[in-house]
Amino acid sequence: MSQQAELSWDGHQAKVPLVEGTVGEKAIDISKLRDQTGLITLDVGYGNTGSCLSAITFIDGEQGILRYRGIPIEELAEQSTFVETAYLLIYGKLPSKDGLKCFSDLLTKHELIHEDMKFHFEGFPPNAHPMAILSSMINAAGCYYPQLLAPQDTKDFDDETAFIISQVRTIAAFAYRKSRGLPFIYPKPQLKYSANFLHMMFSEPNADYDLKPEVVRALDLIFVLHADHEQNCSTSTVRMVASSKANLFASAASGVCALWGPLHGGANQAVIEMLEQIRREGDDGSRFLQAAKDKKSGRRLMGFGHRVYKNYDPRAKIIKKQCDELLAALKIDDPLLDIARQLEQTALHDSYFVERKLYPNVDFYSGIMMRALGIPVEMFTVIFAIGRMPGWIANYREVSESQGGRICRPRQIYTGTPLTHYVPVDQRGNA
Ligand code: ACO
Repeated sequence: MSQQAELSWDGHQAKVPLVEGTVGEKAIDISKLRDQTGLITLDVGYGNTGSCLSAITFIDGEQGILRYRGIPIEELAEQSTFVETAYLLIYGKLPSKDGLKCFSDLLTKHELIHEDMKFHFEGFPPNAHPMAILSSMINAAGCYYPQLLAPQDTKDFDDETAFIISQVRTIAAFAYRKSRGLPFIYPKPQLKYSANFLHMMFSEPNADYDLKPEVVRALDLIFVLHADHEQNCSTSTVRMVASSKANLFASAASGVCALWGPLHGGANQAVIEMLEQIRREGDDGSRFLQAAKDKKSGRRLMGFGHRVYKNYDPRAKIIKKQCDELLAALKIDDPLLDIARQLEQTALHDSYFVERKLYPNVDFYSGIMMRALGIPVEMFTVIFAIGRMPGWIANYREVSESQGGRICRPRQIYTGTPLTHYVPVDQRGNA
């Protein structure tokens, strides 16, 4: 007999089943609750709502554990590459040598955007945020290849997957070049994924960018660490859009839009802006921390806190170590890193942050690392989006293949005027 939970209210009683995940997490399955009882559940911000069953990524926020398809993030960070990790997330297992080569070849095959798409970049004002360009251009890319919008079989799906992962990198680099008034640099097929991105960002028509191995590796690591993070805001958005049977391009573009916000992927840009403000104002960080604790100030300590992690974000640990190593290797002395370290130490010993279990998240040090790589601040969230694409695709695929084709459609508790009547405009007064 499967386990059940018992509910009682106003003299009524009902039993609802419990479900258990493969690592022992339990949930009350309320999917038939309304049919059974007339009740719905209310969970503003979805802090206690499991929106799906998923076999892609596991997080234990209390213990600071993150695994892609069961493999700890620390092992992937140490031994894998972004392309291999993307394969793992999307196809559910590590690729064989041949499988990895086929996947890499497919990425290379799709690295060039349609030549006509270059004109779309001209339509954006020079100060357009690259996230706006990225989301629009992902949708636009789909228009040029209608056969990829409705994959019919596994081969089509492989093509569509590699197409988006490869093109998002080219689009991102072109968006940056456009914003700086620089000529577009085409990808080179002999370069691997992250090296190719750096080449398209920083080479010039008359001079190739010097691809330092530690810089290429650091960027690849950033992509690996961002590749998936279960049901966060952008991934849930992708799944929501996918559930309407919208195509992968539309669903991925919606993920980019959701990621843009400063409480989500936009936090890496917000962290650097915060650190720069602290430096500009000659603050040692204590004034900013004071303000971050005051709800009326409208400030938060950016890069701190997480809906799921009530412990150190494991990605933040990895990135902090890498950041130290990278800056040492490149002989960069960044005053923002000193401010960040001091802020972190003060916050970790401050009762406000301790009581609320607010620890550094992945964004706290990723911005400093990207600065060291020469990535401009407005591109930080774009880098996050490139990294997250495999996770979005894996989730899109899971939705397409499961859920019994049901559209995601939450309910609400209505709190507006119960009933009122239409008043013609000439009888409404001036208010
Ligand atoms: N600075 C100051 N106070 C904070 C912070 C912060 N960074 N984060 C949370 N708090 C406080 C809240 O004010 C609240 O206090 P209260 O209980 O006195 O009302 C308490 O901690 C709980 O915070 P919530 O907002 O309820 O936490 P939630 O899970 O909704 O939000 C979030 C998580 C959005 C990440 C939040 O911690 C935040 O805004 N952090 C800063 C932005 C950031 O770094 N975002 C990146 C997230 S990671 C990612 O997307 C890759």
